[in-house]
Amino acid sequence: MSGGPAITLKSQPIDGNNGNSGNAAAQQQQTANNAAAAASSSSSSQASSGTVPPAQEGTRQSSLQRIQLRKQKVFNLPEAQKLAKLSMYSACQFEGCRCTGWKTPQENRHRDVESSYCPEPTEECRNASCRHPLRSHISHLTEISRSSMDELLGAIIDMENLFMSMQRVEDEDTKKVYLYLFRLLRQCVLTRQQAVIRGPLGDPPFESPCITKAVLSLVFYKYSHLNPTELQTMTEVAKTFLNFLNHYNFESPSARRGDPTLTHEDASTYKINYTRWLVFCHVPAFCNSLRQFETSLVFGRTLLRTVFQYMSQQLKKKCISERDRFPEDKRSIITQMPKFLEALRAELLKDDSPIWDSTYRPPNSFVVQQRKRHQEVAPPATIASAGAAAPSGSKRSSVGEPAHKRVKKEVAERVTSENQDDLPIEVVMRAMKSVAESKTSNKSEILFPINVSRDENVKAEEQKRAIEFHVVGNSLTKPVDKQTILWLLGLQLVFAYQLPEMPREYISQLVFDTKHKTLALIKENQPIGGICFRPFPTQGFTEIVFCAVTMAEQVKGYGTHLMNHLKDYSIQRGIKHLLTFADCDAIGYFKKQGFSKDIKLARPVYAGYIKEYDSATLMHCELHPSIVNTQFIAVIRNQSEILKELIAQRHNEVQKVRTGLTCFKEGLPSIPVESIPGLREIGWKPQMRPVRASRPLEESTDPEKLATQFASVLQSVRQHTAAWPFLRPVTAAEVPDYYDHIKYPMDLKTMGERLKKGYYQTRRLFMADMARIFSNCRFYNSPETEYYRCANSLERYFQTKMRELGLWDK
Ligand code: ACO
Repeated sequence: MSGGPAITLKSQPIDGNNGNSGNAAAQQQQTANNAAAAASSSSSSQASSGTVPPAQEGTRQSSLQRIQLRKQKVFNLPEAQKLAKLSMYSACQFEGCRCTGWKTPQENRHRDVESSYCPEPTEECRNASCRHPLRSHISHLTEISRSSMDELLGAIIDMENLFMSMQRVEDEDTKKVYLYLFRLLRQCVLTRQQAVIRGPLGDPPFESPCITKAVLSLVFYKYSHLNPTELQTMTEVAKTFLNFLNHYNFESPSARRGDPTLTHEDASTYKINYTRWLVFCHVPAFCNSLRQFETSLVFGRTLLRTVFQYMSQQLKKKCISERDRFPEDKRSIITQMPKFLEALRAELLKDDSPIWDSTYRPPNSFVVQQRKRHQEVAPPATIASAGAAAPSGSKRSSVGEPAHKRVKKEVAERVTSENQDDLPIEVVMRAMKSVAESKTSNKSEILFPINVSRDENVKAEEQKRAIEFHVVGNSLTKPVDKQTILWLLGLQLVFAYQLPEMPREYISQLVFDTKHKTLALIKENQPIGGICFRPFPTQGFTEIVFCAVTMAEQVKGYGTHLMNHLKDYSIQRGIKHLLTFADCDAIGYFKKQGFSKDIKLARPVYAGYIKEYDSATLMHCELHPSIVNTQFIAVIRNQSEILKELIAQRHNEVQKVRTGLTCFKEGLPSIPVESIPGLREIGWKPQMRPVRASRPLEESTDPEKLATQFASVLQSVRQHTAAWPFLRPVTAAEVPDYYDHIKYPMDLKTMGERLKKGYYQTRRLFMADMARIFSNCRFYNSPETEYYRCANSLERYFQTKMRELGLWDK
């Protein structure tokens, strides 16, 4: 769906124009000085050599071209000059020296390594604490391949561009993000590792369904009744919208301060999403050392809601101003755009819109048809030549594979595989019919079905409307009806009776707090149970605060059904995780609802958000967006019956008894397996030869060689500057509560001992212990700590070392 006609806005590109050297002197860090010096000298050389046109307009496209040209120019330099450039960001290899980048001697400090100047390997570093020759900054780099060298140089240029942008940008939030990415790239260049963004921002995709999927659903939902040409037009309109969004420049949160369309909560959500957009979508579009994601594929309704009004106004204006540049046959896209935007706006506002329901899926036939059309109609380049500002999809054209292409491909593959049926539909239909028939014919015989789950009985009650489930909550901005208040008061009592350890005031405070909601189970208009919860949409999880059912109604299945309703409610709002601090007595119940003490969410995602309780256990439940939990048990039962029927049908088909093979008696030593009669009929397929390369590495490596390799990796890891926190076990004397939190400690000393004892018989065992060191550290420490940073840095270094020895999978 992406790659429609390109109507884009002028962006604020990352490199902007490089005319300003920035105030390098004010920078304390030598790194930053190097970046400033390098960026400054390269910009002056660009201007003087005329290789790169001066920045006449700050468009995204011209910035991208400028960046690519500069990279290409650096890639084409002679090796000595490339190494000189790298030396400026490489640690001195001289033992004990802590210098992290060679500094041009005073007399040459205005000369540009990227043009004519090539320092001698003997030239001394200007850094007073180093003074070692350039050679000592590059001795470890001379062996690396050309492509790895170019990758590092590319990252350096990205870093320098970020540095320059940091100088220019005024917005403090944006500046901070640039600084963070600058440091990340700096660290990656120093350690020669891939840049990976970790931390409280979470990992993309951030919401489900993504905007692309919802927009595709909208086309089906609103326009599938149109004739093929009109439907085609609406599809093009949708693609144009997505394209616009993917090139859209979001305003910084500070620029939106005072925006009446944003509530206080929206504003904080927007700030998080803006940071995510900068880090994962915008900056990587210009810095291809960072993995790029497309806005419409990783964000969902929350982001779109906060930007829609302003963005759609701009798109409408743009459509009017670009109208004449569109060819006649594409003008309908422009004319239909307002109608499409209105429809999308309406669905954005509706709480129960199906297009934002992650389980909503247009029928396969529609998806296939759309895909076919998409392949048949003009490819993005043709559409872009319709006179739009920048060719779509050309974000990162020359260096490496554009990451967003990878993402799109993955998504496309997923859609394809989702639509592949491995059994002919008629066969399944036949089995379903037969199951349904057997149910009706057996009905009268089963008076007391023994196997019916409690959940089935509750569902039957719900169907008869003997019980009802409602999500209720207090509000300070909208009127709250009397019924809701009465239910909230009743729920407060249920929680207070069933959770006697909780102070009553605290229960009242949360039940009536506007950020909390309660899923109420109502019987005869009285609440008999409920779950009080607080959603954190930006963090992707919901916190369960209280959960209780009145004593007389317990163990009837209500608790299960309440939880299933909450799961469905959360999934529909794009939330994939539930977290709760469970009382000891309730751990069993939560386990039965799919919760586990093994928390799969990274601590920074929930720490500081969820309320923590002493003597309660944190439990986590991951939600699968395509499961309807209130139907799940029934669906599984039904599916298992259909499967049994399919197996029975297959069994009948292959029951044929064959005469047996006589060829061996007749003297044949062997026959091909596939020639055995009946084998293919029961579904046997010739197996592909296993691909050698896909075998686990340890199978093909002898243990002694492996042990030597592990010893060398361990040695290097121990010597790394970030290894100091992990050299020996943490003692309870140093960190008294460490072992309350860390059940499986690990450290480099213990690993050394295990290695000596021959414990590491496989690569996986070795990697698992090392991974344990880093995960323990990240679990116990918060991301701002030096320890946390050391874990990230050392982990990357470890992976590089393993990769160098061919011991890493990817
Ligand atoms: N320990 C172990 N298993 C339990 C518990 C428990 N405390 N309570 C219920 N179960 C089991 C049931 O036996 C049943 O298992 P089965 O399906 O295999 O037979 C399953 O969990 C679900 O039972 P339901 O009947 O669906 O649940 P119920 O309606 O009894 O509600 C609830 C469960 C909410 C825990 C209820 O028992 C209750 O209100 N207890 C007192 C309050 C409480 O402890 N709340 C949780 C505190 S933690 C918190 O609020 C975050």
